[in-house]
Amino acid sequence: MSAPLLRIEELRVAFRGTGGLIEAVRGVDFGVAPGEVVGIVGESGSGKSLSMLAVMRLLGATARATGGRVIFDGEDLLAATEARMREIRGRDIAMVFQDPQSSLNPALTIGRQVTDVVRAHRRVSASEARRIAVEALERVGISEAGRRLDAYPHEFSGGMRQRALIAMAIACRPRLLIADEPTTALDVTVQAQIVELIAELRRDLGLAVIFISHNLHLVAEIVDRVVVMYGGKVVEDGPAADIELAARHPYTRLLRACVPSLHGPLGPLAAIEGAPPRLGRMPAGCPFAPRCPQAADACEREMPPLATDGARRIACWRPQ
Ligand SMILES: Nc1ncnc2c1ncn2[C@@H]1O[C@H](COP(=O)(O)OP(=O)(O)O)[C@@H](O)[C@H]1O
Ligand SMILES: [Mg+2]
Repeated sequence: MSAPLLRIEELRVAFRGTGGLIEAVRGVDFGVAPGEVVGIVGESGSGKSLSMLAVMRLLGATARATGGRVIFDGEDLLAATEARMREIRGRDIAMVFQDPQSSLNPALTIGRQVTDVVRAHRRVSASEARRIAVEALERVGISEAGRRLDAYPHEFSGGMRQRALIAMAIACRPRLLIADEPTTALDVTVQAQIVELIAELRRDLGLAVIFISHNLHLVAEIVDRVVVMYGGKVVEDGPAADIELAARHPYTRLLRACVPSLHGPLGPLAAIEGAPPRLGRMPAGCPFAPRCPQAADACEREMPPLATDGARRIACWRPQ
């Protein structure tokens, strides 16, 4: 095991609610090795995006990290200055979001937006920035990239816009790419292409990736390791094959049964019965206990610790 590139330790994120601080991320803990691809899965509202926005220090005014550390290459990002974060964002860690439409500026050409990222981090001439932009666009599968530099976002399809955003993200050769539901807004065939692209980039550039999705099957296709989140906590994590084929947490097992595989039949999306816990009303015990077919009294009373079992960790009093 090489030293982690990113180490998230006991991360907590909270909002100011009417009755005081409300915690949405409640002690998240995991690492990413150089070149490793980690998937974060969990239903909507489990704290996946907030955890990653905290890593990038992009939480905005309403939320803040209230505890823990985010160690990137030996440096605690939660303690870094804003100026330092501006250096790191885009150069060392880049993030791609769900909606390629709103992440691009409609008034600027694609070329301008890619070259702006390059020139924000590297002292290069305009023509050199243009060359790097073309290379990045070609690398993400945009053909005739030189000509397409002058196109505006509305001239691109949804899949092409997401490719352009990924080009911006990798243009400065970051060591970590965080992709937050990068395919959710796209149709199924395009989803598969973007997933394949990310797998390719990882292979060719050796970059580490955190791939967030609510679709466990989609994630399991390309990641080395899966981190399952529920109610602001990690409930299970381990090698992708183990999680897909032999999940031990009842939540992961239901999640796995829920979503059709990328290549499988497109049946109706079965959902897990019940709803995730409401923020500010987290149960004292396991957050999944109220929906869990396996729950016993102990589960309602006390949160199970995230216990290590070989290559896996699992937070459950009654793992399968
Ligand atoms: N700015 C905000 N103010 C209040 N609540 C928020 C804010 N952003 C997110 N939340 C809430 O925090 C919880 C976790 O959000 P998020 O990390 O976006 O979940 P996920 O990405 O797993 O779907 C959700 O219940 C969401 O509604
Ligand atoms: Mg999200």
